[in-house]
Amino acid sequence: MEKISIKESFNRFKPEGCVFVISIDEKLKPSGMIASWNMKCSMEPPLFAASLSKNGHTHKLIQQSKEFVIAVPNKELEEALLLFGSVHGDKVDKFTETKIETAKAEFVKSPLIKNATINYECELYKEVDAGDHIIFIGKVLASYINKDKKVLLNMRREGDKRIFDEF
Ligand SMILES: Cc1cc2nc3c(=O)[nH]c(=O)nc-3n(C[C@H](O)[C@H](O)[C@H](O)COP(=O)(O)O)c2cc1C
Repeated sequence: MEKISIKESFNRFKPEGCVFVISIDEKLKPSGMIASWNMKCSMEPPLFAASLSKNGHTHKLIQQSKEFVIAVPNKELEEALLLFGSVHGDKVDKFTETKIETAKAEFVKSPLIKNATINYECELYKEVDAGDHIIFIGKVLASYINKDKKVLLNMRREGDKRIFDEF
């Protein structure tokens, strides 16, 4: 066993699932990002949490709208995932840029991703300050699945490149 930096150990702790976290601004315009720091955290009530950097844009949308959608990607969404996970929503309209197909949610105003493997509609349940991140815990109001699709995992890094595979 060898001692390594905490940052490197966090990077090596893979594979990890990653999700789209989508919310809306006051004009109902959607934006979102990718979060691999996410988890299911309660069954009753059903809760799902994602940890979002304070440097990003999406956390501001959730703080204002009090709602978000979690969409679980598969291989066909990999390209969109890389865009959503690398540019800021106050600079780039990620939905227009990726032409990602959306679907209307039932209980929230944020859109679902039509071809995601799983979608969760969430209303903000609790916000927890977590150092340079904020953990948003959402109460899941509805969930959807595309049964023929798989779940994309971030397997490892090769230099600057993230390697994904689906299961
Ligand atoms: C695979 C992957 C996983 C990521 N996981 C997280 C995460 O858990 N939390 C986070 O704050 N950012 C994470 N990011 C980075 C954000 O998605 C990225 O900074 C994004 O551009 C922020 O967008 P926004 O400023 O529009 O909110 C991840 C990026 C990728 C590609």
